[in-house]
Amino acid sequence: MNYILKNARIIDPGRSVDTIGDIGIENGVIADPGKIKDAETVDLTGKVLTPGFIDIHVHLRQPGNTTAETIASGTAAAAAGGFTSVVAMPNTSPAADTAGAIEYLRQTAARTGVVRVLPCGCMTKNYSGQEMAGIGSLKSAGVVALSDDGKCIQDHALMRHVVEYAKSFELPILDHCEDNFLAAGGVMNEGKWSVLLGINGMTGAAEELMIARNIILSRQFNWPIHMQHVSVKESVGLIRKARAEGIMVTGEATPHHLSLTDECIRTYDTNYKMNPPLRSEEDRQALIQGVADGTITAIATDHAPHTVTAKLVEFDHAPFGIVGLETALSVTYTELVASGIMQLPEYIKRLTTGPADILRMKGYDLAEGKNADITIFDPDAEYVIDPACFKSKSRNTPFGGKKVRGRNFMTFVGGKLVYELGK
Ligand code: DOR
Ligand code: ZN
Repeated sequence: MNYILKNARIIDPGRSVDTIGDIGIENGVIADPGKIKDAETVDLTGKVLTPGFIDIHVHLRQPGNTTAETIASGTAAAAAGGFTSVVAMPNTSPAADTAGAIEYLRQTAARTGVVRVLPCGCMTKNYSGQEMAGIGSLKSAGVVALSDDGKCIQDHALMRHVVEYAKSFELPILDHCEDNFLAAGGVMNEGKWSVLLGINGMTGAAEELMIARNIILSRQFNWPIHMQHVSVKESVGLIRKARAEGIMVTGEATPHHLSLTDECIRTYDTNYKMNPPLRSEEDRQALIQGVADGTITAIATDHAPHTVTAKLVEFDHAPFGIVGLETALSVTYTELVASGIMQLPEYIKRLTTGPADILRMKGYDLAEGKNADITIFDPDAEYVIDPACFKSKSRNTPFGGKKVRGRNFMTFVGGKLVYELGK
């Protein structure tokens, strides 16, 4: 099917485009709309059209926990949220720490996925932080990055060797930054609310410390290290300073850390439990500032599906994580753009070229001949989030019932319409 997408506000950060115009899709790629024959025409007056969003932090749970999510349901959720590519975290069961596991992921994604699934391999065997994974064979199998997400390598010498290997195989590192000794036993942010609620806290210093470690290793080996789900003010400061010095570190912020604080936990609702935990208002403001000024170059969801039964336990015992793919655009658009904090073109970078740069993808834009991976959203649509409508198999979100602005309208992957609002 060919398309002519008319009258949209086209924002294409890779080519510094921000204009009202038309885009054509022919045989799966971007084409001159004036030259396409036999196309379906879609009027997009009032809508925003951008390169497909990339989420560099997604847990698809297959293999291992397909009651919570599958590659089919997780990629359907991605399409609904406007994401055309997702980086699949390797903390599955078995973990994605071998070429065979990556091959399984690729084949299953090709068969059942509706958006592009970019495999990420473990840094260490079974992401246990003890022994390096076979990084060369992971690279040959097609991983786009390395991560032990969910855990953090505590042994700095081992991490140093991983950085050296990652550099020789040209793989970016995506690191979950957490010092286990400092964070031990905590289930929420350490601060006023953990004291008031009598819940064990984890100090933000646990994150700050590992971010400092990673900045040192990135500088020493001149190789990029990306900090996943940055949550505290001090981390934003460290990354800002390192980047100003030319050190190749990057960071991401999640929609929940940008919009919620640890005060939410006074309800004891386990849908406010994730790792890193929701932090203070001061931390949240610093994170927003970091996203706005380009210290933090990507918004990533850390989509972490868990079943109702897994989450329906005391706060202490619930697993960490919330789903995010289907609410990310609306929550962050509301928080960052509708609020007047960020201009739309800069915000769109955090969902497109920002993550593409972290993955070292070149030329992520809407030039003619490129893959037609396109997201179209309605910046004025207001609605109330209803988890019952999710494509994800899981419903563990704190955003149910929240009134938001900005809603995904259509998602194309390789020229194929994979999501249309209301269809
Ligand atoms: O909240 C989280 N959930 N943080 C992580 O680091 C892992 C993730 C998961 O896999 O559930
Ligand atoms: Zn993590």
